[in-house]
Amino acid sequence: MTEQRRVVVILGAGGTLGGALVRKLASEPDTDLVLSDVNDAAVKAAAESVAGAGATVETALADVGELEQVEAVVRHAVERFGRLDVLISNAGVLAQNGRIHNLTTADWDRSFRINVMGAVNAVHAAVGPMRKQGSGSIILTASVAGMTAWSHSGPYCVTKAGVIQLAKVAAVEYARDGIRVNAVCPGTFLSGMHKELSEAAVDAIASKHPLGLGSADDLVGAYSYLASDASRWTTGSAIVVDGGYAAP
Ligand SMILES: NC(=O)c1ccc[n+]([C@@H]2O[C@H](COP(=O)([O-])OP(=O)(O)OC[C@H]3O[C@@H](n4cnc5c(N)ncnc54)[C@H](O)[C@@H]3O)[C@@H](O)[C@H]2O)c1
Repeated sequence: MTEQRRVVVILGAGGTLGGALVRKLASEPDTDLVLSDVNDAAVKAAAESVAGAGATVETALADVGELEQVEAVVRHAVERFGRLDVLISNAGVLAQNGRIHNLTTADWDRSFRINVMGAVNAVHAAVGPMRKQGSGSIILTASVAGMTAWSHSGPYCVTKAGVIQLAKVAAVEYARDGIRVNAVCPGTFLSGMHKELSEAAVDAIASKHPLGLGSADDLVGAYSYLASDASRWTTGSAIVVDGGYAAP
């Protein structure tokens, strides 16, 4: 009998953490990938970065804020590979800096649409095939911002707290279907999100991490664990990988 291959969908695969996740998971045995992002060039570059690594890699464009588009990505995976074992919801945006009275409804709407509804849409779409299989692992990228308070970052902190809570609710709703749902809460690693920050601001953030700033490669082990059978008794958890940021 041939060994069943593992099928992984990554939403928000075109960014810094997405790229590191693509490289990590493509390097693991018997794994095929469907990579998705709203940025076509970025997701194609992520796929090209692992050409020849052994995994079959497909790409699909989607805005995570639109349920039908996320469902189309999942459908693509199931039609192409026959199943869906792991879905990583990794798309996210940082709203512009501002205290609450200086932010607009549009600032909040965008953060809720992409960070919260993007993750809700990911769960909604993934549980269809996973329930039929009776197995699956859903991994939501949250943030330490969802468990600690940052001034001037209300939409980001509030929406990432929502992602952590979504992982818990979905974990209890789908455990009986054999589906595990967990969140990963990274501390700061420099990425596309920080391109506007001054060196002084980066130094200030780094000083709050006892182990210093991380890199996306410091995070992939947690995802690899949650995507594997080694985490078979882990669900509803928020795994913190933050260089000690949230410890004090
Ligand atoms: N960089 C950090 O310090 C940090 C810390 C904690 C959590 N995170 C989270 O990690 C995840 C990845 O972020 P990153 O730091 O690699 O940033 P990034 O900007 O490099 O990547 C974000 C990706 O999300 C995609 N995206 C944005 N809106 C989308 C949409 N509507 N639909 C589909 N894709 C969309 C972008 O195109 C990009 O490829 C995010 O969820 C972010 O909130 C980042």
